Amino acid sequence: NAADVDNKLCASSLDQGCQDYNLPVNDWAHSSLSVVVLGASGDLAKKKIFPALFALYYEGLLPPNVQFFGYARTKMTDVAFREMIAGTLTCRVNSRERCLEAQETFLQRCFYQAGSYDQQQGFISLNTRMSGQEASMPRANRIFFLSIPPNVFLDATGNAADCASSRTGWTRVIVEKPFGRDSDSSKELAEGLGRHLSEEQIYRIDHYLGKELIENLTVLRFSNSVFEPLWSRQHIRNVQVIFSENFGTEGRGGYFDRYGIIRDVIQNHLLQILALFAMEQPVSLDAEDIRSEKVKVLRSMKVVSAEDVVVGQYRAKGNLPAYLDDSTVPVGSLTETFAAVAMFIDNARWDGVPFLLKAGKALHKRYAEIRVQFRHVPGNLYRSKQGSNLDAHTNELVIRIQPKEAIYLKINNKVPGLGLRLDTSRLDLQYQSAFASNDLPDAYERLLLDVVNGDKRLFIRADELEAAWNLYTPLLHALEKNKVAPELYPYGSRGPVGAHYLAAKYGVRWG
Ligand code: NDP
Ligand code: BG6
Repeated sequence: NAADVDNKLCASSLDQGCQDYNLPVNDWAHSSLSVVVLGASGDLAKKKIFPALFALYYEGLLPPNVQFFGYARTKMTDVAFREMIAGTLTCRVNSRERCLEAQETFLQRCFYQAGSYDQQQGFISLNTRMSGQEASMPRANRIFFLSIPPNVFLDATGNAADCASSRTGWTRVIVEKPFGRDSDSSKELAEGLGRHLSEEQIYRIDHYLGKELIENLTVLRFSNSVFEPLWSRQHIRNVQVIFSENFGTEGRGGYFDRYGIIRDVIQNHLLQILALFAMEQPVSLDAEDIRSEKVKVLRSMKVVSAEDVVVGQYRAKGNLPAYLDDSTVPVGSLTETFAAVAMFIDNARWDGVPFLLKAGKALHKRYAEIRVQFRHVPGNLYRSKQGSNLDAHTNELVIRIQPKEAIYLKINNKVPGLGLRLDTSRLDLQYQSAFASNDLPDAYERLLLDVVNGDKRLFIRADELEAAWNLYTPLLHALEKNKVAPELYPYGSRGPVGAHYLAAKYGVRWG
C-alpha cells in the first residue's frame, strides 16, 4: 500500500528522517510536485516531455506548487536550459490566450542540474536544489522520468532512489522502453529496478496507450451494444494492426540497430493494441482489472513462429538513402526496418483468427490503424449484384490511430437511383470534423498526468511485459542466430512483397 511504498523510499533516502505521513497522498494544498527529467538534454525530453509538461501546466492540470528539473551530463546553467526548452514549447491552439505569459511562468519553474548517472554527487546536489524549491510545503512528491539510454537505467535509478527520493511524500519513476532486448535481459532489468523501487513506484510507459483512439478502443467495444456481439471468430475474419512511417532512422540508427522494428514497435506498441482489442471485458475500469485481462490474452497467444514472419530492410531509392547509408548503422547490418507477423490467440473467442501486425520505416506514408475484416454474409441475397470477389464486399471496421483520427465502417449500400447496383460506402466518424481534433492532447500529456494522479491503467505491468517477451524472444533469437537476411524494399514503397505472401497464406489482403 501507499504508506509502505513511502516507508520503503524513506528508508532508502540518504537524508535523515521521514515526516508528515499523516497527510493524504495527493493533498496538493499541502504538497509540492517536482518532476525530474533525467536525460534532459536529449531528443525525447525536448520533443515530447517538456512540451507535454508545459501543456499540462498551461491547462492548469498540475498542482499549484510544481517545479521541473532537468538532469544530464551536459553542462548548462538554468538560463541556458530554459532557453533550450523555450524553443520546444507550443500552445496547441494558436489562438489560445496568455500562451507566452504561461510559457514565461513555466520556464521560471524550470531548473537544471548537471551530473553523471553513475555517481551520487550530482543526485545529492539535485536533491538539495529540489528540497530548496519544495521547502514551503510539508510534503514533497517527486516524479523521475528516465529519458536516458538503457545502459544507464540502473545506475541512474539506484542513485536517484538513494540520494534524491522524497523523504516526505511519494516518489514515482517513469521508465521508457526499451525494457530489455529479450526475456532474460528484461528480467535482469526488472530485478535491477526492483532493488531500488517497488512495483507500485514503477511506471513503464508505452506511449501508444496514451493515444486518443487507443484510449477509445475499450469504450468502443464495451459501451456500444453493436460491436461487442460481433467481436469474435464467429464474425471476424481477420484483424490487422498497421504502423507505417514515411521516414527512416534519421540519426537514431545507433539505437535502432540494436533493436530493430520488432522490438521497437511490434513487441510493445502493436502487441499492446492487440491485447486491448482482444481481451475479455474487465471486471472494472480499475488498472489492475484491465491489466489482468491484457495479461490473460497475451498468455493465450501462440509464441510467434519464424514461418509467420517476414522481415525487410529499406534500400536507397533516388536521393532517398538506404538504412545502411545511415552513418550510425554498422556496415552490413541485418537489422529489420520492416516486419509483418501473423499471430493467433488460442482461446474460445479467437481460435483460428489471424491477427496480422505490420510495422515499417521508410514506407510510402505515415499512418497507424487497426482494420477489422468481417466474414461474408451467409446466403447473401445480393451476391449476383456484387461480382465474384466476395472479399471486396465484406464489412470492414477501420480505427485510424493517426494521423486524421477516425473510425469508419465499410458497408454495402445501394447506389442511389433507379436499378439495383451495390457499392461500398462508409459510416464515417472523422475526429477532425466531429471533435476539432487539432486540439487532441499528445499521448505524453495523458500519461504524465496519470503518473501525477497515480493511475496505472495505461502503464505496463511486470507480468504483461514478461508475457509479451515470451511471445517474441524465440523468434528474435532465431533471426539473430540464423542471420536471416531481410528482404530489401525501396525507400518510400509499401514494403517487401513477402508481406503479401504472408497475408495470402491466411487468406488475407492488407487493407
Ligand atoms: P538520447 O540518445 O537523446 O539520450 C538522452 C540523453 O542521455 C542525452 O541527451 C545524453 O545526455 C544522455 N546519453 C546519451 N547517450 C548516453 C550514454 N551512452 N551514456 C550516458 N548518457 C547518455 O535519447 P532519447 O532522448 O532519444 O531517448 C531517451 C529514452 O527514451 C531512450 O531510452 C529511448 O530509447 C527512449 N525513447 C525515445 C524515443 C524518441 O522518440 N526519442 C521514443 C521512445 C522511446 P548527456 O550527455 O547530457 O547526459
Ligand atoms: C517509438 C519508436 O516508440 O515510436 C520510434 O521508438 C517511432 O521508432 C515512434 O518512430 C513512433 O511514435 P509516434 O507516436 O510518432 O507514432
